[in-house]
Amino acid sequence: MTEPKRYLVTAALPYANGPVHIGHLAGCYLPADIYVRYLKAQGKEVIFICGSDEHGVPITIKAKKEGITPQQVVDKYDGIMKNAFKDFGIDFSFYGRTSSKTHHDTAQEFFRNLYDKGIFKEEITNQYYDVEANQFLADRYITGTCPRCGNNNAYGDQCEKCGTTLSPTDLINPKSALSGATPVLKETKNWFLPMDTIQQSAPFQEYIKRFDAWKSNIKGQCSSWLTEGLQPRAMTRDLDWGVPVPVEGADGKVLYVWFDAPIGYISATKEFLASPSSIDHGPWTNWWQNEDTALIHFIGKDNIVFHAIIFPMMLMTHGKYILPTNVPANEFLNLEGDKISTSRNWAVWLHEYLIDFPNRQDELRYVLTSIAPETKDSEFTWKDYQTRINSELVSIFGNFVNRVMVLSDKFYEGKIPTINTPLSDEKLLTCRQVCFDGVAQSLHAMREDLDAVKLRDAQAEFINIARAGNKYLADTEPWKLIKTDAESVKQIMFDALQICAKLAIAAAPFLPYTSNKLKAMLGDENLNWNALFNETILLENHQLGKHEILYKQLEDEEIQKQLNRLEEIKKANDEQPIKTQTLAELKPDINYEDFEKLDLRVGKVLEAEKVPKADKLLKLTVDLGFEKRTILSGIAEYYKPEELVGKLVTVVANLAPRKIRGIESQGMLLMAGNDFGKLYNVSTEKDIELGSVVK
Ligand code: MF3
Ligand code: ZN
Repeated sequence: MTEPKRYLVTAALPYANGPVHIGHLAGCYLPADIYVRYLKAQGKEVIFICGSDEHGVPITIKAKKEGITPQQVVDKYDGIMKNAFKDFGIDFSFYGRTSSKTHHDTAQEFFRNLYDKGIFKEEITNQYYDVEANQFLADRYITGTCPRCGNNNAYGDQCEKCGTTLSPTDLINPKSALSGATPVLKETKNWFLPMDTIQQSAPFQEYIKRFDAWKSNIKGQCSSWLTEGLQPRAMTRDLDWGVPVPVEGADGKVLYVWFDAPIGYISATKEFLASPSSIDHGPWTNWWQNEDTALIHFIGKDNIVFHAIIFPMMLMTHGKYILPTNVPANEFLNLEGDKISTSRNWAVWLHEYLIDFPNRQDELRYVLTSIAPETKDSEFTWKDYQTRINSELVSIFGNFVNRVMVLSDKFYEGKIPTINTPLSDEKLLTCRQVCFDGVAQSLHAMREDLDAVKLRDAQAEFINIARAGNKYLADTEPWKLIKTDAESVKQIMFDALQICAKLAIAAAPFLPYTSNKLKAMLGDENLNWNALFNETILLENHQLGKHEILYKQLEDEEIQKQLNRLEEIKKANDEQPIKTQTLAELKPDINYEDFEKLDLRVGKVLEAEKVPKADKLLKLTVDLGFEKRTILSGIAEYYKPEELVGKLVTVVANLAPRKIRGIESQGMLLMAGNDFGKLYNVSTEKDIELGSVVK
């Protein structure tokens, strides 16, 4: 392929439904940032696009959980996420949001375009419906067993375990994520992208030849789908949160989130370039509709089918757009032996990391790149974090730079020495040659790895450069040699300083904060990539800047603190398993007469005991002032009998008596509860006469 004129790099638009954790960073934002910095360092023309994905079920479910509107959810998290990325040096050209007007216009226009071309198949199908919640259950509103791998928690759109894309009707034992109820089928009209026929088309067959050059995890997933045969997929949903479907007869329907979200890359590009959103004009078309542009999508593995197949099919049927040049997808990152989970709080949150480790963004970037899940899932542990920082960043890179700076200050008052004579003996010459060969080899390997988006290997080669420098110093011992052969030491220190300059330049994609710091220490903030392969970068007599320490040793206590935090979280999770259930839906209105029928009274628990062979039941004797009642209550999991004795309770006093386990229950206690495993007695605030009416 000829060299592209420009690069359009995207990182998956994260759902704006929670703060950012290390899994996000390692999955696609950090690799995308490293690659973009590498491209820019070489002077390439690049746009780096990201933004908040503000539609879709993950947003509405979060809103339900927090008891706020979807708009409030996205307004809250959009800013938090944007800032977290910025704090870690993720240098987007533009961070958009899919709630913007430009995006709505662009997505609707795109849909209309395909609609007018007659691409979609309009079909009335049976879709699952939750009668209680009064709504259709698309995508993540429905869960069940994956027909392919048996995972019990597969979503209506995808099984995260085996990666298969699903339709709700594929699920075995489907359940509503809203109410837990088994849904019913109900007819509705939707517009389908005929992925089966597009798969057979010549342009698609031509496009998939690109997969050959892509990473094997993508190739593997894609070819298994293609072999199985793609199915038509609805591009619209019966939901009230999203981009409205812009055609007749589509009231109450929105675009499928996976139709609108990737178009977010396009709308963000328009906003960045301040292009009018009209489809055919503006500089943005140069980026999206010109074959000279390389389009590269960085994503996590759960997004593969959408970026490698569905979005390209959309672009292709539209006809004007370029198709992705590469889709580097990473696998998942685990934390201390467990899957990272926002709902279980099992994560290292970026904003919390910075409180405990201020100004140590590069340390985290370094470790996450060292363990990047490029080919398979990988694991973050705090011990490993400590080891990598102390034995690589501190002992190899930091130590080399530190030695060179200290010696240069001491021997030459912080100036690059002038060389008068070549090295004096064979042994020194050999050491020098070994070092030069090592550095050159690592530099070339690093460049090849960066080009191939093998960032983990690339960063390892970067450290090898410092390793070669360290070995040169260890083998020649300039701190001793200075007494006997000061002229040779000048050459050695001159070489070592050139290696420091190479490190400062080469660090830029991986460790941008360190790179800037080191450039300042070397007294040249303009050191740039073009100089990387030059033998001499810093000239004789050049004045170095102020010497600082690049990395601090990480102490055991700092690591222990993090481990303790995770331990606490584990304990809290074990004690109180968080369910995926949401708060109960509000029931239909009643009038006051309905309410008045209830006779609620204040009572006091006199006795409480467990009911034999019934785990959940307590048998209570409750004093209502005017009489005593026996009441059976299903609260044994929440209250011990002795905790209740003497407590005031609110009793439904006119509930018809009924027999439970052979005992007549003469009323009911009011308890406040939810699906998250909490249940508390609803009682009055102050002592009041027993038998008082609650109204
Ligand atoms: N929000 C999706 C996720 O977090 C990713 C959307 S990527 C885009 O899995 F292409 F649709 F933007
Ligand atoms: Zn599965």
